[in-house]
Amino acid sequence: MLGPIETNVYHCLALLGVLSGLAVFFILFLISAPYGRHTRAGWGPSINSRWGWILMEFPSPFVFLICYVYGNGGRISLTVFFAALWLMHYFHRVCIFPFRIHEQGKRTPLLIVFFAILFNTFNGYLNGRYLGVYADEYPWSWCADPRFVLGLFLFVAGVVINLHSDQILLNLRAPGEIGYKIPYGGLYRWLSCPNYFGELLEWTGWAIATWSLPGAVFAFWTAANLVPRAHTHHLWYHQQFPEYPPERCAVLPFLF
Ligand SMILES: NC(=O)c1ccc[n+]([C@@H]2O[C@H](COP(=O)([O-])OP(=O)(O)OC[C@H]3O[C@@H](n4cnc5c(N)ncnc54)[C@H](OP(=O)(O)O)[C@@H]3O)[C@@H](O)[C@H]2O)c1
Repeated sequence: MLGPIETNVYHCLALLGVLSGLAVFFILFLISAPYGRHTRAGWGPSINSRWGWILMEFPSPFVFLICYVYGNGGRISLTVFFAALWLMHYFHRVCIFPFRIHEQGKRTPLLIVFFAILFNTFNGYLNGRYLGVYADEYPWSWCADPRFVLGLFLFVAGVVINLHSDQILLNLRAPGEIGYKIPYGGLYRWLSCPNYFGELLEWTGWAIATWSLPGAVFAFWTAANLVPRAHTHHLWYHQQFPEYPPERCAVLPFLF
């Protein structure tokens, strides 16, 4: 069990996650995060984008794993399955994705890397500690619960959509190219950023399947981060390409 002090800290952090997510949501509609196509001068020292991704994402599985194993103490329960989903996602994000991008000397400001490390450490702690400490609260019969089934379905659908959509983007550039093209295929038929839509589905699914406060905080933060960024990408596409398909939404099919 969590001690009373850590319980209070834990709930304060979860509340902080919600409040900061709310602030981030509005700020990112006004100021786009300066990485990728929105990189611009004036954001201080920067780092190679590939290393930026690795540094930014690594704390999430690392802190998650330490907190989970420490809290769990070797018990075999359904949380092992949830932990495996988390670690698989981040194995891809840390060890595969950064080596597949065509970064060609592109750079990410250290400030962005710093904020991402902060968030991922916080998020790894909240979710890893939750799953580790509350391991006994998921009976095996949870596998038949509609929340588990729906959440797992959304998570898997999100993974497939995210990977497929990112793959389409990565295929747009030949080796050595750094420019941008209009993506076609898959959910790009309806959306400018289906990779973000997939990411949103994934963590919404995780929140439903675990039916947990930290899962909900992460899903909320993902939306707060990616919905404004998708909006900025969407406007950017329209500015860059007059022939850009007008029927596409930014990130939520038929809505936004
Ligand atoms: N959970 C979260 O809060 C969170 C936050 C951020 C990212 N992510 C995930 O991380 C992944 C990458 O995110 P991102 O923000 O870098 O996505 P992105 O802006 O869509 O870019 C993905 C990759 O494709 C390239 N690319 C994008 N559009 C292109 C185009 N029209 N033509 C040619 N190349 C193009 C980008 O190159 P450039 O880098 O040169 O633009 C980048 O290497 C996504 O799967 C996203 O869901 C998750």
